[in-house]
Amino acid sequence: MQSDAENSPHVVPPAKPGLHGAVRRRQVDEPLEAILLVGGQGTRLRPLTIGTPKPLLPTAGVPFLAHQLAKSAQAGITRIVMATAYRAEMFADVFGDGSSFGLEIEYVQETDPLGTGGGIRNTAASLRSGPDDPVVVLNGDVLSGHDLGMQLDLHRKTDAAVTLHLVEVPDPARFGCVPTDAGGRVTAFLEKTPTPVTSQINAGCYVFTRRFIDAIPAGRVLSVERDTFPGLIAAGQLVMGYLESAYWLDVGTPEAFVRGSCDLVLGELSSSATPGQRGEALLLSSATADPSAQLSGGTVVGPGGRIGAGASVHGSVLFDGVTVGARATVTASVLGTGSRIGDGAVLNGVVIGAGAEVGAGNELRHGLRVWPGVRLDETAIRFSTDA
Ligand code: GDD
Ligand code: MG
Repeated sequence: MQSDAENSPHVVPPAKPGLHGAVRRRQVDEPLEAILLVGGQGTRLRPLTIGTPKPLLPTAGVPFLAHQLAKSAQAGITRIVMATAYRAEMFADVFGDGSSFGLEIEYVQETDPLGTGGGIRNTAASLRSGPDDPVVVLNGDVLSGHDLGMQLDLHRKTDAAVTLHLVEVPDPARFGCVPTDAGGRVTAFLEKTPTPVTSQINAGCYVFTRRFIDAIPAGRVLSVERDTFPGLIAAGQLVMGYLESAYWLDVGTPEAFVRGSCDLVLGELSSSATPGQRGEALLLSSATADPSAQLSGGTVVGPGGRIGAGASVHGSVLFDGVTVGARATVTASVLGTGSRIGDGAVLNGVVIGAGAEVGAGNELRHGLRVWPGVRLDETAIRFSTDA
């Protein structure tokens, strides 16, 4: 993965007439709205998402969305409409009016989840943009270093209905597969197809010309990926692809969530929302680690955490108030709030729910998930024959 493009100019002065054809570049003080889609249930991250929506999970020390909000503000977005459904009230509790990010945030709630397309349409009454203005739409679980200013420029230059950020991935069947022609025009949108025709996928950041948001039928469950985009393409509307291979990650699975948090701590992706210095580990306020413990690989230890003597924690995310016992080994795992890991336990690639207690000497591996509050007795589970 490449490092991000945070330092490239996202907002550039107006182009000199004739120099860049019809491109009208954004003024620094021009309002720009974004819709943030945060209504999903985050099922692949259960049990972490039972009590907390995926976009609010602590990631490199702050709620995940803080990274997207910081990037949005830096890219010139001035106003965010958050499209919420699942545990809607929690978002306003965390982000308030958005002023700490230099943003204005408005919250819109779907009584029943309307899907990605229905969720976008449901924000229309809260948008202030004019019919021909660009409106950015962001999936609420993506870390991206791409240059949103360039994506907006392409959108304006081509006068597209929608311009999609695209990235190339080795496993396109898990995403929206998006073939384009030689000029970058999107020729099809194939959501989660088992037979992808290209490695280019939808990266979850769209620029809509506002009137195409209003054109989505209101009050219905709709998928922007399965309904809106294929419909626009079939109707002959111009949908453009903006391909940029900067750092990109969808944090929707435990493996990816851990990767994203670690990359932020290590500095693989810079985010002004990440507290402290970049390095092997981040200990948040009042977290302590015995001097003989080893913390590495971008591990974050949340507030109040305690890491015992001789313990080793590598590439993991520890939420608030987690205790790791002496000589325990934790790798590539997420430990939920208040969970307790006993002496000498071995955890690799697992998710531990809030308040769960893993007794001494347990060995948990291979994507195992322990539900909140569960207590595993000493050496209750092992994956090997050692004593
Ligand atoms: N408001 C609202 N209402 N938001 C929703 C709803 C809903 O009913 N359903 C999902 N969302 C939000 C989720 O919270 C998330 O931020 C975003 O929409 C995408 O949902 P995911 O569940 O994360 O989808 P995905 O990762 O399987 O696929 C999407 O993202 C991929 C890139 O990360 C698609 O857009 C793919 O085409 C894309 O490749
Ligand atoms: Mg996702």
